[in-house]
Parts: sequence; structure tokens; C-alpha cells
Amino acid sequence: MDKIGVIYWSDRESTEIMAEKISNGIDEAGSRAILLNVADFDPKTINTYAKIVLGCPAMEGEALEKTEFEPFFRAISDQLKGKKVALFGSHGWGNAEWMADWEKRVNDLGAILYDRGLTVLGEPDKESRRRCVEFGKEFAEF
Ligand SMILES: Cc1cc2nc3c(=O)[nH]c(=O)nc-3n(C[C@H](O)[C@H](O)[C@H](O)COP(=O)(O)O)c2cc1C
Repeated sequence: MDKIGVIYWSDRESTEIMAEKISNGIDEAGSRAILLNVADFDPKTINTYAKIVLGCPAMEGEALEKTEFEPFFRAISDQLKGKKVALFGSHGWGNAEWMADWEKRVNDLGAILYDRGLTVLGEPDKESRRRCVEFGKEFAEF
């Protein structure tokens, strides 16, 4: 069974809710989601996951969160080549520029990016939660 890591950072829980729903979708598809806050993730274990899903909201200046998530992402960057990766996160306004930048970084690292990153404005409503479950299911089958 594929073990899929779902690793996220969240301040006010919107991205955390997305992470939980995506994990539910992965499990429903018959894979095994390992849901971890980035603070609990050891970058050295990255290669024990068949695929990974990374979640972080848009933070200051359309960027990844600088203190925990950005250093984590840099720490795993050289191990993403050839790996299947999906991205998600919540944002507060605008056109989700942070996600477009993040997709580009992941592509430039030679990872196999699934679809576009999944973005939700603010807290996920019922329809967004359903989309998160679907996203998890489809990524498990990707
Ligand atoms: C310090 C700070 C900076 C933020 N910067 C942005 C930003 O540049 N662009 C944006 O769309 N939203 C921005 N937001 C809004 C968050 O992305 C939004 O509230 C999101 O839902 C937070 O996700 P979370 O509940 O998982 O923490 C910012 C929020 C905070 C607290």
C-alpha cells in the first residue's frame, strides 16, 4: 500500500482542515495517508513516502511561511526530483500568487507535480472540503 505523507503548516486551521480532508480522500482511495504538522516531520524520512502532499497558506508577501515551512521545504528540496508531489493551502485575498510561485519551484526541482496546487480562500466551506477529499483521492491514483 502506498504511504503518502501529508505535511502542512497552518496558523488558523484552514490549511489544517484541508490537510485532514485530503488525507481522508487518500485513505478512501486505498492508500495510507500519514498526516503530519511540519513541526513533527523529520526531513530525513522523506524517502519513506511514495508520494508527498505539501500544504502551507500564503503568508507575508505571497510567500511560504518563513520560520518553519520555508526551511523545511528547503531541507527536502534536493530530494524532490522525480517524486510525485501535490500542493495545497489557504489564502486570504488576491490571485493565489504564492501558489503559482510554489508550483514553479517544485517543477524547477524536477518533481512530478500533480495538477495545479489546490487553493481555498479563507476557511474551507462544505464544497471546498469536498474538493479537498477529491483532490486526495485523485492524487492517490496519480
Ligand atoms: C502574517 C500574515 C500574512 C499573510 N499574507 C498573505 C498574503 O500575502 N496573501 C494572501 O492571499 N493571504 C495572506 N494571509 C492570509 C492567510 O493566507 C489566510 O488567512 C489563510 O486562510 C491562513 O491559513 P491558515 O488558517 O491555515 O493559517 C496572511 C495572513 C497572515 C496572518
